[in-house]
Parts: sequence; structure tokens; C-alpha cells
Amino acid sequence: MRFGKFVFFGLLFSCIGVTAATHPNRIIIDTDLGKEKISKEIYGHFAEHLGNCIYGGLWVGEDSPIANTRGIRNDVIAALREIAAPVVRWPGGCFADTYHWKDGIGPRAQRPAIINSTWGGVTEDNSFGTHEFLDFCELIGAEPYLCVNVGSGTVQEAADWVEYVNSDVRSPMTELRQKNGREKPWRVKYWAVGNESWGCGGNMTPEYYADLFKRFATYLRAGNLCRIASGGIDTDYHWTEVLLQKTQKVQHLIQGYSFHYYTVCHGWDRKGSATRFDENDWFHTMKNTLVMEQRLQRHIALMDEYDPENRIGLMADEWGNWFDVEPGTNPAFLYQQNTLRDAVTAALYLNIFNNHARRVKMGNIAQTINVLQAMLLTRGDQLVKTPTFYVFKMYKVHQDQTLLPAHVLCEAYTHDGKTLPGISASASKDSTGRIHLSLCNLNPGQQREIEVELRGLNGVNKIRGEIITAPAMNACNDFGQAEKVSIEPFHGFKKRKNSVNLSLPGKSVVTLCIE
Ligand code: AHR
Repeated sequence: MRFGKFVFFGLLFSCIGVTAATHPNRIIIDTDLGKEKISKEIYGHFAEHLGNCIYGGLWVGEDSPIANTRGIRNDVIAALREIAAPVVRWPGGCFADTYHWKDGIGPRAQRPAIINSTWGGVTEDNSFGTHEFLDFCELIGAEPYLCVNVGSGTVQEAADWVEYVNSDVRSPMTELRQKNGREKPWRVKYWAVGNESWGCGGNMTPEYYADLFKRFATYLRAGNLCRIASGGIDTDYHWTEVLLQKTQKVQHLIQGYSFHYYTVCHGWDRKGSATRFDENDWFHTMKNTLVMEQRLQRHIALMDEYDPENRIGLMADEWGNWFDVEPGTNPAFLYQQNTLRDAVTAALYLNIFNNHARRVKMGNIAQTINVLQAMLLTRGDQLVKTPTFYVFKMYKVHQDQTLLPAHVLCEAYTHDGKTLPGISASASKDSTGRIHLSLCNLNPGQQREIEVELRGLNGVNKIRGEIITAPAMNACNDFGQAEKVSIEPFHGFKKRKNSVNLSLPGKSVVTLCIE
């Protein structure tokens, strides 16, 4: 597609370096051409029984000296409300395919202690189970998303869980729920049928899993459910095709298709440190995050072929940065710090999801607390809000709003002879007509001058801006220290009649509110 002297490589969000220009960085927003809603569930979370995500992070128990509500940390409840967390996926992850939900109900003292054989072989005392998780979701105002055990569980066990949680008809399961203190059903909508069934969820072939999916999904019955099938490993387009093809005749059983993608800096054997890195590591982290765009495009193309009516949502229910664990911590607990680099890649992912709002209906960053690219870190009674947390806070304005087509033409970010698009953006319009434009500058060292053209808008009245940045690429927030990365007011823009000129600092994430 041609625009003046510059070349667009793909519509909407991708951009490529240009050589000469009066306005080398240009974003055109069609303010009157929005069609798709950005599902708020794109801003979702994932909490697994892994390391200190649940125990210590979210759950401290009712008798803890740490302030809590029925055992759930008050500081965590407040923080997740602050970012309007819309949905939380639980209990895994790989843990889900070893989890037997009946171990986690009834009086806590009588629940069996088991071994968490997936994550470090530590004791799992089951004190946090179905009631506690669903209480947590109610406290933060989020939809629960449960993952049933396909790998080592049975169809009956999964069907019983749905009935226990969702039914209000008298039955052994609903009576058991009432005996355990919950009169009314929770009516959980989102149910995953296994997790990563190609790997830790049972090492299955797509053909075998597709049959198993249909068997399980048939008996998950109580309520108006969104049943989500496990996807293959991120590049496994064959898995996607087999699953979609084999469920063609039973489309009423499948409402969602799960997709996982993690950014690793130089490869799974060279993930690198979360905090000690140079520009080369920064560049490769950006590059490997942008790969998500290509992966999504190919999976979506297959979904469009087999589901042209766009009925099945693509659920990116695990994503984020995966670095080496912090030195001195349990390698199986996946505890990593979180820096400005994580903030910029979170913004990249969210721009990608926003721009694919037609098909992407959910995203769940891995993971909520103390694991991988966390929102929150805890140590005893202390809580740290990470740079990623602040991106979620800044971007919540896009939840359930109308996606606006944003065409980006930009200079490349060049490092060591390799190039990436230098700017990423997405935009939405809310019900009052306000436009929110979110941008990030991938280049850590260079400010970019950008012209934003607002097509279809009858004049710009008022603009407010917010920015997340810091002097150092690896700036992070830590225990007992003042925050180094948070949201600050941004004033680096000039309003014109139907456009905005802005100076986007290197390694920054900005959101403008345009009225
Ligand atoms: O998020 C950590 C693990 O990564 C999850 O348990 C699994 O699904 C994925 O491989």
C-alpha cells in the first residue's frame, strides 16, 4: 500500500523504516471507521499454583498478620482493582492437568496435602481452592476462568466441577457446594479444556486431543459456557487446522481457542537476566515480542478459513516475557524482576491484541504475582507495583471500547545492522467520543517526532497525556525504594486543527486522551 513517498507494510499496526521524509513518523487514525469492540478480557491475568503466585502472593490465610479479607491480601485486591483486572485464569497452566478440584473444597484442615509435581515438588496444602479463588474474583470484580484437568483427570470430574460451580438444580454436587457454604452458584462462563495438551497437559497429538476435547466439551453443561480448546505450541499451525477441522460439525461445543506465546531474549537456552542486560538484549526482546504479530496473523487466517463467521475467539491466555529467575531464588518458582523493558513489551503485546480485536477475545499475561512478567511482587507484607502494572493501568481506557484503525508509518529502529519498526500504536474511541491513542517508542536512545492525523474528526478540543519511561532501560521498582517507573503526566505534544504533533521519548509508552 502506498502513501506519498512512504510504503506501508501491512495495514494498521506494522510499520517499517523510511529513508527521507518531511514527517518520517506519521500515524493516521480513522476516527469514524471503528467497527470492532476491544474485548476487556484482552486485559486479563493468569494465576497458577506456581512458586509464590498464590501462596504468599495472593493468599496469606485468615490468621495472617498481613491485612487480608478472608485470607486474600488486601493490598493485592486494591491493586488489581486499580487496573480493572477483568478476568483471571486459574489454577494453571501445567498445574491444571494435575489438579483435582475436590482436593480444594470443604474444611481446610481436612483437605489433603499433595505434591506440586510440576513446580518444584513442593507441598500443596490445597488451602486455596475453588471457593477461595471465586471469592478472590468477586473481591476484585473479575470474571473467573477455570481450566479443567484433561491430562490426568476424567470427564466425570470435569463435569462435576461445572455442576458444582454453576448449577442451581438440586444434585449431589450442588448440595455439596451448599454444605461448603455457598448457597448460590457462581455461574462461571470461561472454561478451558486442558492446558498445553501438546506438552505438559498430556503430550497429545492434535488428532487425539481434538477427539478428547469434543468428549469433555460435550459434558461441560451447566450454564452458558465459553469452552476453550487448547492450542498447539506457538508455531504449530497444523494443530490449529486439525482442531478446527475436527470440530466443524460440533461448532456449538467450541467458543474459544487458546494460544500461548512467550518472549525469550535469545532463545529458550539463553533467556538472559531480567535486570542486567544491554541494548543488544533489549533489541532482541523487542524483536521476539513482535513475532507475536506474525504468529497471530497465521492462526487467525486459519480461523477465518474454518470459522468465517468469527464465532470462535482466539484466547491468548498465556503471554509475556520469560527471563532467567532472580539469582538465589528457586529455579522452579520462575520469580523474575520487571523493568522498563517489560513495560515497553507489554505495550507492544497490548497494541497487537487491540489491533486484532476482531478475533482476539481474551489475553492473560503470565502471571499476576511473583511469577514471570508479574503485575505485582510481594515480600512479606510489602508489595511492589511493577512497570508492567503501570502499562495495564494506563491501557485500561481501551477496555470494551471501539477499536479505531491506526495506520503507522515510521522510521526503523536499527541496531547492529538489523531493523525493527520503531513505533507501535493502537487507538480506541469511548462511548463519549473521546479518543485514546497509545504509542510506544521501541528505540531506547532516540526521541521520535510524530504527526498524528485524525481523519474524520471535527477539530481537536483538548488533549491530555500520560507517559511511562525512565532514564535507564533496566529501571525497576523494588522493595523499600521509591518507585522509579510509574505513570507521569506527558506534555510533549502540540494540538493542531485535526492533528497532533508529538515528541515521543526513547523507550517510552504514552497514551493521549483526545477530545
Ligand atoms: O506460565 C508458566 C507455564 O508456561 C504454564 O504453566 C504453562 O502452561 C506454560 O508452558
